[in-house]
Amino acid sequence: MTFETDRPPSWQVCVTCGNELTESDSHARCPTCGGLLEIAHRPPDMTRAELLLRFTERRGRPPGAAAASGVWRFREFVLPSAEEVVSYPEGNTPLLHREVLDRWTGLVGLLLKHEGHNPTGSFKDRGMTVGVTQARRIGARAVACASTGNTSASLAAYAAQAGIPALVLVPSGNVASGKLAQSLAYGARTLLVRGGFDDCLRLVQEASERLGVYLLNSINPFRIEGQKTIVLELLQQLTWDPPDWIVLPAGNLGNTAAFGKALREAHAWGLITRLPRLAAVQAAGAAPFARSFEEGFKRRHRVTPDTVASAIRIGDPASHDRAVRAIRETDGVVLAVTDAQILEAKAAVDACGVGCEPASAASIAGARELVRRGTIAGGARVVAVLTGHLLKDPETLLQYHGQADPLPPGANRPVEIEADLREVERFLGKE
Ligand code: F0G
Repeated sequence: MTFETDRPPSWQVCVTCGNELTESDSHARCPTCGGLLEIAHRPPDMTRAELLLRFTERRGRPPGAAAASGVWRFREFVLPSAEEVVSYPEGNTPLLHREVLDRWTGLVGLLLKHEGHNPTGSFKDRGMTVGVTQARRIGARAVACASTGNTSASLAAYAAQAGIPALVLVPSGNVASGKLAQSLAYGARTLLVRGGFDDCLRLVQEASERLGVYLLNSINPFRIEGQKTIVLELLQQLTWDPPDWIVLPAGNLGNTAAFGKALREAHAWGLITRLPRLAAVQAAGAAPFARSFEEGFKRRHRVTPDTVASAIRIGDPASHDRAVRAIRETDGVVLAVTDAQILEAKAAVDACGVGCEPASAASIAGARELVRRGTIAGGARVVAVLTGHLLKDPETLLQYHGQADPLPPGANRPVEIEADLREVERFLGKE
């Protein structure tokens, strides 16, 4: 099969007005209308079988080779023109099954795509390897982002690897300590902003424009290209036989947008013949997208967010429009789960030895809720994405297990004793 070749391999398109920019344009948004940008690729000049063979061959390359990265293995979908990449490498995350979670959710064969296995402990590394690669290609002097903690940890690590100074803005007092520690350790200049994530994002957009710093929030379309590989990799793990549902937590909606784009392209390029349905799960205290979904996406909402899942404590998601398209095209759903549901799901994921951070558990709580409502059939093939590692947020964890009254489901309270064998015996006797 041959395709038109009068275009470069990739270019940028404004999702609002259709304005086209070159791949190397560094604008954070469309310079004409302020809309979000998206990367368009010329479909590769090869058959489905040839493309799949390439993906398989690269998977077998020695670990450490850029082509073996779970992102760059799919480079035709990501950034085909990139020759030198800033890669850890990342991706290659496991697809897990735990019977306990089947019983807990009411599903059979629920699979967990555990993105906490990425180098900095979250899926953000998949987008950041592409974002920082692009920053280096265009000669960015510095890079910046606003974050609830994971994006900043990832940006700090990849910028350090590329030798580019990084600036991160995070909500003061509202970032889990594991994430803040990473940002400091990797050497990013870290600003603790007295405000929420939405304030940080507004501020960093203004600052990056004023100071000429390259913006690497998920409004950056190159980040989205990297995050698409969560879906591509899980499809490859399932030998390109798509599941019925993919469930993911949703905050700023970059990932929901990325999943939609990955599925759209995988379908258009003939890799899959059927689209899984997306289920985007928000925390009830930060659920503007779920509210909008309930109204048939007639209106965009903005809320003052409040949830224990600090990663998704976001009231005005930047990728709203792109995510609406993802939900519509996949016949998807959006729902909200309470903090109690999130924490109970997290305790269940942790107790089976897998573990994840609170926001990630929203997908498990959401899967259970959708089965309960009858939206997802008990026999459906479901993949739930765990977005971040258990050790990201030790405070929430210790608070949950240390709590006495009422004792939450699955709580494992520590007991303090004197350094005396009789106390150990007394404790075991009680057990
Ligand atoms: N899960 C985790 C662990 C996250 O860190 C985030 C977002 C999400 C889910 C939601 O993804 O924003 O694409 O809808 N964290 C961003 C950050 C906002 O700054 O680290 P989304």
